[in-house]
Amino acid sequence: MKKTDSLKNWEGIACVIGIDWGDSGKGRLIDNLAARANIVARFNGGSNTGHTVKNNYGKFALHIIPSGIFNQKAICLIGRGVALDLESLVDDEMVQLKSAGVSWKNLRIDQQATIVMPWHKIRDGIREELRGGAKIGTTKRGVGPTYADRIERQGLRAKDLYEADFKDRLKEELDFQNKIFSLKLSFKEILETFTRYSKVIKPYVTQTIPLIKEAKSARKNILFEGAQAYFLDIDFGTYPFVTSSNTGVLGIWRSFELYPTEINHVIGITKAYMTRVGSGPMPSKIEGEAREIIIEKGGEIGTTSGRIRDPGWLDLVLLKAAVEANKVNHMAMTKIDVLTGFKTIKVVTGYKIGSKEAGYISGDASYLAKCQPVYQTLPGWQQDISSVRNFKDLPKNAQNYIKTVENFVSIKVDFIGVGPARGEEIYV
Ligand code: GDP
Ligand code: IMO
Ligand code: MG
Repeated sequence: MKKTDSLKNWEGIACVIGIDWGDSGKGRLIDNLAARANIVARFNGGSNTGHTVKNNYGKFALHIIPSGIFNQKAICLIGRGVALDLESLVDDEMVQLKSAGVSWKNLRIDQQATIVMPWHKIRDGIREELRGGAKIGTTKRGVGPTYADRIERQGLRAKDLYEADFKDRLKEELDFQNKIFSLKLSFKEILETFTRYSKVIKPYVTQTIPLIKEAKSARKNILFEGAQAYFLDIDFGTYPFVTSSNTGVLGIWRSFELYPTEINHVIGITKAYMTRVGSGPMPSKIEGEAREIIIEKGGEIGTTSGRIRDPGWLDLVLLKAAVEANKVNHMAMTKIDVLTGFKTIKVVTGYKIGSKEAGYISGDASYLAKCQPVYQTLPGWQQDISSVRNFKDLPKNAQNYIKTVENFVSIKVDFIGVGPARGEEIYV
């Protein structure tokens, strides 16, 4: 296995996965690392994802298209494990890219990716409405119902758009959905819309697994772009307040048959604090003035759904659990600039249930909801750090904050974000 020291010079196979509850700056990190990539590949999630990229082309909110698209030489793959939202892809993202003069000629869509259909989005909304007290707070992008239908073996896939019996299959499925969910969706309208989408994406629909295998044999650089984050994983997150895909390294296998141990650089990304959008427990949730400051300074409003993200102090118990489970060997920490100005900053170093010490149990929201955080309080810093580009030029207390995280989690922080744009970072 090949491994270089600085992430800036990474080579081989790398992935970026969230080790929190999402929105940690995966888009901006992928945009950075993609400079060295021959392939950038999305492996999970759908248009629930909102990856922000700010670079010399402009500012973009990507949902389905990989954030590596701005390296115009890289092949950008959408894996079969992605819930393929063609409305987002064609009517939103391609429009964003076109107006900025960014080409998507290197885009490739796995022919077996399951398509998000209009009824999936409607069902997502109905389900949420009827959930009563324990709402998940989904993005209503139809991701859960699309995966559910895939598992039920009823999903329409990209390749099906081009089969002779597509119309019949669409009719059959639409009749079923209209009947079961009391909908009145029009066959004619859906057929027209998806005929339009199918024409736009036709040049890009292909088999993507062979592209990964060939690139690996040729020792090309492959970068996998995770969506969401580990504590939203369907199996290992805070169920039921999770998304419907595998957000950690397992998701890469499910899209590309590439085994986790074949990945040289597993890059776990978090903000310098955490946020959670939607329902579910977050033991380190911040209330009061600090909450308002972080929301305001960090712009903590959802890229996809426009909802306020709840801020929390950095939970080292959770980070360590995600790092260990995914064999993360590099950490990236963004938005440390947002913490500038606090007198003190807290991190979670343990949990208690009543007077007893507790650990983290994966996959169980009701257990996590009982955990009371044990905090360590660290001194803050007051100097503006947004123009710092070397670790040694950070204020001592900012250095100390990062080192405290590294010591607890037992891996190095190799990338530090001090601002949202390309270039506003420190490679350590
Ligand atoms: P993703 O879903 O993980 O790609 O993250 P989002 O794009 O949803 O949210 C991250 C937000 O933080 C975006 O608005 C980014 O532009 C912004 N951002 C990323 N890194 C930094 C950073 O280091 N500092 C600041 N201030 N903002 C950042
Ligand atoms: P990125 O890739 C943050 C959350 C939703 C909700 C739960 C389930 O931008 O980090 P879903 O629509 O997936 O069924 O919603 O998961 N969620 C995210 N939170 N960032 C995301 O993606 C998210 N994608 C889904 O808010 O709580
Ligand atoms: Mg996001």
